[in-house]
Amino acid sequence: MNNDEVIHAGKVVLRAKRMEDAANDYAWRVDEELAALDAAAPLKQPFHQFLRSYQESFEYPSPWSQRFGIDTLDGKHIGYCMCYDINLAFGEAEVGIMIGNREYWSKGYGSDSMVGLVNHMFTSTSLRRIYLHTLEWNLRAQRSFTKCGFNAIRSVKRYGQGFLRMEISRDRWLEIREEKLAELRREEIAESKNPSAAAGQSPASPS
Ligand SMILES: CC(C)(COP(=O)(O)OP(=O)(O)OC[C@H]1O[C@@H](n2cnc3c(N)ncnc32)[C@H](O)[C@@H]1OP(=O)(O)O)[C@@H](O)C(=O)NCCC(=O)NCCS
Repeated sequence: MNNDEVIHAGKVVLRAKRMEDAANDYAWRVDEELAALDAAAPLKQPFHQFLRSYQESFEYPSPWSQRFGIDTLDGKHIGYCMCYDINLAFGEAEVGIMIGNREYWSKGYGSDSMVGLVNHMFTSTSLRRIYLHTLEWNLRAQRSFTKCGFNAIRSVKRYGQGFLRMEISRDRWLEIREEKLAELRREEIAESKNPSAAAGQSPASPS
């Protein structure tokens, strides 16, 4: 995807990551709770070091991954998602997501982002299967991914932690695609009519 292209997905817009995301991404990476949900250790690096490697990731982008910032429709940066370990020979890739701003949890921003990502990857590549690993106890994530069409496949032990592997095949995606994209269109219309309601604030009073 070019830097100026965006993916509209219901309440969110996915767009290429940019340097200005660094401060939020850093805040989310050092956060203990967010790191635990991502099965990672919280980042201990100082910001200036993080910034240097962040800059390098733009200078030397990996051909095996695609990374996106997640914005609300009014342009607030609330998280990121990515597709990585893209293996076109096997037709498989893994995805991951972080809605770092907790105010946006459990309101459909994660599932909209994931539907947008899955649709983009199946549309723009020849991938046959997209998979992910989520911690067994991360029930919110599992529910969100199930809504997007992922199925639980099996339990996996990694680094002493229990994960659930979930997958969606291209054939399954093609079966549900129209329904999911129609849901996104309905959400986008509802969100643009009343953006504050979805973010958990009081709905705007009718004029
Ligand atoms: C996981 C994540 C992407 C999900 O996105 P989200 O926008 O918060 O979630 P969604 O609104 O799409 O879906 C959440 C669903 O789980 C439900 N849910 C919330 N908490 C739950 C819990 N403790 N147990 C079971 N279901 C729960 C919600 O009610 C909702 O279901 P519903 O729409 O049927 O009511 C987001 O919460 C996130 O990034 N969290 C922090 C990092 C993380 O966990 N990343 C995933 C690593 S694999």
